Amino acid sequence: MSGYNIKEVKARQVFDSRANPTVEVDVILECGAMGRGTVPSGASTGIYEALELRDGDEKRFGGKGVSKAIGNIERVLAPAIVGMDATNQAAIDDKMIALDGTPGKSNLGANAILGCSMAVAWAAANAAKQPLFRYLGGCNARTLPVPMVQIIGGGAHAVGSVDIQDYLVVPMSAGSFAEGYEMVVDVYNATKKVFAKAGKPLSTADEGGFWPTGFKSNEEGLALITEGIALAGYKPGEDVAIALDIASSEFYQKDKGTYTFHLEDREFTREGFVDLLCSWVDKYPIISIEDGASELDWEGSVLLTQKLGKRIQLIGDDLFTTSIPRVKEGVERGACNAVLIKMNQIGTITETLDAIEYTKTVGYLPVVSARSGETEDCSIVHLSIGTNAGQLKVGSVARSERTVKWNEAIRMEQLLGAQGIYPSGAIFDRVKR
Ligand code: PGA
Ligand code: ZN
Repeated sequence: MSGYNIKEVKARQVFDSRANPTVEVDVILECGAMGRGTVPSGASTGIYEALELRDGDEKRFGGKGVSKAIGNIERVLAPAIVGMDATNQAAIDDKMIALDGTPGKSNLGANAILGCSMAVAWAAANAAKQPLFRYLGGCNARTLPVPMVQIIGGGAHAVGSVDIQDYLVVPMSAGSFAEGYEMVVDVYNATKKVFAKAGKPLSTADEGGFWPTGFKSNEEGLALITEGIALAGYKPGEDVAIALDIASSEFYQKDKGTYTFHLEDREFTREGFVDLLCSWVDKYPIISIEDGASELDWEGSVLLTQKLGKRIQLIGDDLFTTSIPRVKEGVERGACNAVLIKMNQIGTITETLDAIEYTKTVGYLPVVSARSGETEDCSIVHLSIGTNAGQLKVGSVARSERTVKWNEAIRMEQLLGAQGIYPSGAIFDRVKR
């Protein structure tokens, strides 16, 4: 399309919410429109994720510099995509994938490729004077996501605290995104009071949730949040439910095939750990569990799915890493019923859109997600609306790298007006079969 050809690609090193360097790319089109992508970064990274290229020079940023990734954009990717039509996202992404030439983008770096891919999408949307979600999804892209919001952060996001990574809440009875968000904000503030009453000091973990200081067990967080939901005036389970990201790959003992709660000095067999999670689902208003078994333990995920797969949502994050072949294997084995979608696990917008499409086709629920290291980029909000994914997980309601996403969803709900669709807690009925 005339004027949509890429004129210039500018890459730079900026910083994320954990003070680590990351890649940012601007793409400028011949018509003057500009798009920007700023790449996020995980801490509890799955072993099957595409490669995040870091410099490895310990003298600068502890090896986390991204000058090699930026060099790859300047020397290889930019010259190849300049002149291409920005509305042909798939052709641009295919070209970058081919230039890299490896399955895990380990040559040029998934961070280098994704920065370009995101910037191209934004540039095309801006040139078309459309919100990104509409550009990505067309005229029927209008489903606001049900928010999955962190209240307590542990694991790799609050090192030395509890073993479980995320204790989250999900509004079930809200009629709109804005109403659902208000409910989880109420729960966040009420849980703050519950912490104060229990004499627990308040500080924030990497994604803005409360840092669990002085916890004696992993279960304690479940009781505190259930109390927070009630204190906020909501019915636990009916109005607001709990979601957990166990991120169990982080405490799986590969050699023994066991799961260890370091906080409690307790070791579980696969069956023992599945039983523990089942007992929590019986006792607390839990609607979703992510990575209840390790990325290396298919049998654990299958066992958990046999026990809970018709009662609650079971998400694979490290297990699937937004990769279609891994989701396919999960479907064949009967593991999980939902897929966490993270753009930088796979490395291009096109492959992310394909993964969401595939997830829906096999009857699993896609849950679009941020990373623990984030920036002011709000592309994932548009990705969730643009694909009618139905759920979005962004960390907590505190810290600007989180609110920039939630606030964008509020704006897009207003923009969609009466045409916006909000699935509410009914979305989970799709997996309760
Ligand atoms: P990460 O955490 O970005 O550190 O991987 C998020 C998650 O596990 O869902
Ligand atoms: Zn996760």
